Amino acid sequence: MRKMRRKGLASMAVQTVATTSESTVDLGPAAALSCRECGHRVPLGPVFACEECFGPLEIAYDFSGYDTEELRRRIEAGPANIWRYAPLLPVPADVAGKPNINPGWTKLVQADNLARELGVTGGLYVKDDSGNPTHSFKDRVVAQALEAARAFGFTTLSCSSTGNLAGAVGAAAARAGFRSCVFIPHDLEQGKIVMAAVYGGELVGIEGNYDDVNRFCSELIGDPAGEGWGFVNVNLRPYYAEGSKTLAYEICEQLGWRLPDQIVVPIASGSQLTKIDKGLQELIKLGLVEDRPYKIFGAQAEGCSPVSTAFKAGHDVVRPQKPNTIAKSLAIGNPADGPYVLDIARRTGGAVEDVTDEEVVDAIKLLARTEGIFAETAGGVTVGVTRKLLEAGVLDPAKTTVVLNTGDGLKTLDAVAGTGLTATIRPTLDSFREAGLA
Ligand SMILES: Cc1ncc(COP(=O)(O)O)c(C=O)c1O
Ligand SMILES: [Zn+2]
Repeated sequence: MRKMRRKGLASMAVQTVATTSESTVDLGPAAALSCRECGHRVPLGPVFACEECFGPLEIAYDFSGYDTEELRRRIEAGPANIWRYAPLLPVPADVAGKPNINPGWTKLVQADNLARELGVTGGLYVKDDSGNPTHSFKDRVVAQALEAARAFGFTTLSCSSTGNLAGAVGAAAARAGFRSCVFIPHDLEQGKIVMAAVYGGELVGIEGNYDDVNRFCSELIGDPAGEGWGFVNVNLRPYYAEGSKTLAYEICEQLGWRLPDQIVVPIASGSQLTKIDKGLQELIKLGLVEDRPYKIFGAQAEGCSPVSTAFKAGHDVVRPQKPNTIAKSLAIGNPADGPYVLDIARRTGGAVEDVTDEEVVDAIKLLARTEGIFAETAGGVTVGVTRKLLEAGVLDPAKTTVVLNTGDGLKTLDAVAGTGLTATIRPTLDSFREAGLA
């Protein structure tokens, strides 16, 4: 069963880049890379697939020797960005002094108006990651990947992207003095294209969808043309992915070192959701939060819903789909972490659900109208799924619930086209009254 589930990764693994050296790099508490399937360990390096079974590699840490209260004090005294959690991340201890875009410590908004509208009584919060430097949660993962790229001696950053990642890579590379060359589907939203291009790196549109872009990058990585490049979500993926743990850390710290009962997370590749779970598990093991149950819910758009389709069918294999949705940032038809998302949703008692494009637009407007937060389509997907799961009685309205807004509505203006002027009037009071506005 596991073998079938890993088919997509196995094809990528054929082009695995060789490890540059034994683990002589200083990436703080990161001790090695470990296979998520078979546990095989290899030294830290720019590799992403297990040489034994082609399973995905992830970071294994040595957190021994941490005293809980000392660690809590150290975190609380840290900077107001993700580096406050440096003791739990694959970065050197002096990371805060290096040129990076320093994302994170975004607002956890207590969404009482939205809660009233949706009938939530147990506390509803929006973790608003549109407040990051390039206005999406991708700054978190890129900040981690940049430190790994530095450690491994890369000077070019690259990625395959559904839009937000391209902007985050462009900005991080500009700040750190790296070259960047990033790849996106050619027909993304104008806001995403401009946000990715403005930092001065190379931005390449590929004729195809994200899955085509990703396949192209896997080929490039094994070709002399891509030699020496750090692809943040391919050969640096184990490091990149860890950036999403900081969402879990921040949510718990902002709740007063408390686990939420329910979290709703958007899914593209599924990486973010799996690392939020990893972050919560670490906080429990380190004694920073009380060990009690939590549920993780995944959100997709109906037009690209391979994971929710598998969840609802009771499958543990995710069948690829051809995306067709306005939620382009989530339009990954063959999600690498899909099977792990299914495991987590089932283990925690959560669910994976999807909403139509119309429901996405309604949810963007609902969040804007109730909380003054303008989300991109991915945020519309999470809020829409939250509403749907509450109506279905799957989400418990009496529990503390956190909904992620991972991106900024200014990048997907077309989704709410038609939202505009209430009236156009002459600059006179008569005209104002005539328009019925008095
Ligand atoms: C705004 C936004 N939210 C969520 C995601 C999902 O990320 P993941 O691929 O980690 O599931 C993406 C991915 O591109 C994104 O751009
Ligand atoms: Zn393995």
